[in-house]
Amino acid sequence: MPGTHEGLEGIKATSTRLSLVDGTAGRLILAGYDVEAIAPRAKFEEMAHLLWYGRLPMGHELETLKRDLASRRRLPKPTSTLLRDAAKASTPIIDAVRMAVATLSLGRIEAPEEDTRTLLAAFPTIVGEYWHLINAEEPVEPRADLSHAEYCLYQIFGCLPEEIDPERTRGLETYLNTVCDHGLNASTFAARVIVSTHSDLVSAVTGAVGALKGPLHGGAPGPALDMVGEISTADRAEQVILAKLERGERLMGFGHRVYRTRDPRADVLAAAAEKFYATSGDKDFYALARQVEKTALRLLSKHKPGRHLDTNVEFYTALLLNGLGFPKELFTPIFAIARVLGWTAHCLEQLRNGRLIRPDAEYIGPVDLTFSSVPTASPLN
Ligand code: SDX
Repeated sequence: MPGTHEGLEGIKATSTRLSLVDGTAGRLILAGYDVEAIAPRAKFEEMAHLLWYGRLPMGHELETLKRDLASRRRLPKPTSTLLRDAAKASTPIIDAVRMAVATLSLGRIEAPEEDTRTLLAAFPTIVGEYWHLINAEEPVEPRADLSHAEYCLYQIFGCLPEEIDPERTRGLETYLNTVCDHGLNASTFAARVIVSTHSDLVSAVTGAVGALKGPLHGGAPGPALDMVGEISTADRAEQVILAKLERGERLMGFGHRVYRTRDPRADVLAAAAEKFYATSGDKDFYALARQVEKTALRLLSKHKPGRHLDTNVEFYTALLLNGLGFPKELFTPIFAIARVLGWTAHCLEQLRNGRLIRPDAEYIGPVDLTFSSVPTASPLN
């Protein structure tokens, strides 16, 4: 429609100090740091301090933040009760997460800064509790002696501190840092719209989880892994991918609204995955995935010339999380565990200096109709 920007493509809706997504250069800067420089090295709590407060923690600030987050891991009783009821109803995990997040308002009205910490701390417990419940196991007790990334592994796999492999923790922490924020992606924009009315952060994050669930956004890594599994051997890649493209299907893990070249996060996660597969994962599977990626890129450029459909973050998200032992049902919830940092940071920024978000629309419906009630048949007697 002339005059409208479907999907708000290319529209700068606000200014932000949180992340720069340069789709032409294929560059992602997180509050001043290139993703390649900070993601493989930082603690997730350092990323949280950086995005929430505009700088990396100094001195005792990191320990203080770690302790405060750890003290907020236990869920309110009604939240755990809801998760039990959701499990009895076999509710999809991401829907259970959304419902559980909404209950965090119960009995507490907190300042936005407090909400950011409560929300970030609660997500691993919500995902972990629910994962145990739908596997007919009792959830593990929250504990405060682990880092955020270690706590995710503990909550989901039940592994005790002495059983947690530092390499595995590093791999997960690199993932969490890499995907924690990414400009005005759909779920972050949803969160900003909600707080732009001066609503609260629990409402905003509840809405953001709903947006993240979609296969065009955070729901892509599972199907991306399925595609590699479906192909199963490198010689089948061409025929399987071609068939998908000919059926008009989208290849999950490829294409991006902003990147017109390779998503820089794909390389960060590929490096983390490579490291992990080299020591413990299924090396053949990783080699197959690399082959599938090459074939997909070649066929996409032939099938959709000029569309610049390159590998996006989700393809290597699938590989890395699979290599770290996460089942694909948990890929989107783990994405949420990371992205709740970006959602809450954008909410703080929106509350500090944002305006009510209210775009316009081009009306294309009828006008000047004459109203008359439609005669209804007399009631049967
Ligand atoms: C994330 O925004 C963000 O930053 C998101 C994210 C983040 O960090 O928050 O980066 C995370 O969501 C990554 C994207 C994950 N989704 C997928 O991998 C799903 C597959 N990708 C696509 O559906 C698609 O590429 C989107 C949704 C990601 C972007 O789509 P656009 O920009 O709206 O482009 P489009 O739908 O208008 O497609 C343009 C053309 C179309 O062909 P035509 O109809 O014009 O002939 O390209 C085709 C599309 O069919 N196309 C694809 C394709 N992606 C686009 N064809 C095959 N496979 C694909 N993956």
